[in-house]
Amino acid sequence: MPYISVIRMKEITEDVFYIGVNDHETDLFEGLWPIPEGVSYNSYLVKGEEKVAIIDLVKILFVDEFLTNIEKKVNFDQIDYIVMNHIEPDHSGSLLRLLEKAPQATIICSKKAKGMLNDFYKVTDNIVVVGEGDELDLGGRKLVFYMDPLVHWPETMLTYDNKDQILFSCDAFGSYKALDIGIFDDEVNPDEYYEETIRYFSNIVAKYVKYVQKAMAKLTDLPIKMIAPSHGIVWRANPQRIIDLYVDLAARKAQPGVAIIYGSMYGNTKNVVEYVAEGVKEAGVPVTILDFSRHHLSYLLKESWQNKGVILGIPTYDGGPFLGASYYLHLMKRKNLRERIVGFFGSSLWSGRALLQASEQLKELDWEIVEPLLEFRGAATEEVLQQAKELGKKIGEMTKE
Ligand code: FEO
Repeated sequence: MPYISVIRMKEITEDVFYIGVNDHETDLFEGLWPIPEGVSYNSYLVKGEEKVAIIDLVKILFVDEFLTNIEKKVNFDQIDYIVMNHIEPDHSGSLLRLLEKAPQATIICSKKAKGMLNDFYKVTDNIVVVGEGDELDLGGRKLVFYMDPLVHWPETMLTYDNKDQILFSCDAFGSYKALDIGIFDDEVNPDEYYEETIRYFSNIVAKYVKYVQKAMAKLTDLPIKMIAPSHGIVWRANPQRIIDLYVDLAARKAQPGVAIIYGSMYGNTKNVVEYVAEGVKEAGVPVTILDFSRHHLSYLLKESWQNKGVILGIPTYDGGPFLGASYYLHLMKRKNLRERIVGFFGSSLWSGRALLQASEQLKELDWEIVEPLLEFRGAATEEVLQQAKELGKKIGEMTKE
C-alpha cells in the first residue's frame, strides 16, 4: 500500500503546533509488535508570549523531516525549552541533532530522566529537573508537570498546558497507526485508532496497569480539553472517550464477548472451532476467532485483554500444549492479564496433557476455568462437537454476568 502523508506541521490551537512524523518504514515496534499501518511519533511546539517549548521528539530515523517541521514555525535559536516526557528513543532519538541546531535550549525532565540522558546520549548540561506539580512559565501560559512513572518507563512524566488545557500524555492514550489523513479524532475515523489504542496498551503499557491507575486518578480533577499523546491522534472532539477507555483497560475491565484462539496441525482441533463459535453466537455476544500460528501474539493479547471470555483450542504437541499456545500462555503471565473466563478444547492425538497443563498456568492468574476440559483423541466425535457448542454458549453467557 503506498503512503502519501498529508501531515507536516499543523496548528492545534493558535500557539500550539503538531510537528511530529509518520513511520511507515519500521515493521515491528520495539522489534516485537507488528505495525502494518505504521505509527506516528508526535511532537508539539508550544509558544508562550515570551518562551518557546518543544514537547517530546521523534525517532532518529526521521530527524530531518522533524527539523524541517520545526523550522516552519520558529528559528532554532528561538527554542527555549525541550520538554522530555520520556527517554525511550522513539521520543528522544533526535535530541542530539536538535541540540546541534538549538544548543541554547534547556532540557526539562524528571530526575530519573536526567540520569538516562547521560546513559543514552551523554547529555549532562543545561538540564532542569522538575517534580510533581512544578510549573514552567512560557508567558501567558504555563506548562505543569505530573510524574507518571512506569507509563511507560520509570522516568516518564505528563505535561499539561494550563492555557489551552491540553494534556501532552506521551505513551499514555497512544496508539499504533500513522496519521496519514489527519491528526484529530474529528478528522479521521476514531474507531480505527480506538482499536489500535487497545492493542498498543495491551502490548506496551499493560504490564504496568497499577501505575496507569495511579496516573488516571491524578487526572480526575484536571480540566482537559484535548489529549495529545506522542503516538496516534489528538483527542479534541471527545477526549473523555479515550480517558474512559484507559480507566477500563487499567482495571482490566473487559467487554462481554469471547475470543476463540486455536492451533491445529491436521485440522482436528480446527474442525471444532465453528461449533464453539456457534455456541458463543447463541449466547448473543461478539466472537472473534484467531489462530495461534497465523495471528501475531500482539493481536492475541489485544483480544484477550478486550474480551471477558477466552476459549483456547490447544492440541497436544510434544506431550504439552501446541507451541503457539505455549508462547501465548507465557505472554499472559508476562503481561499479568488476570481474571478472564476460559474454556479449552483440543485434539490429544494419543496422549493428552495439554489442556490440563494450560489450565494450571492460567489458574495462577486467577482465570476462571470452565469445565469440561474438552480433550479428545484424534478427530472429534459428534458428541464432542455438541459439547463444544455447549461450552461456547456457556462461556458466552458467563461473560454477560
Ligand atoms: Fe513511545 Fe515508551 O515510548
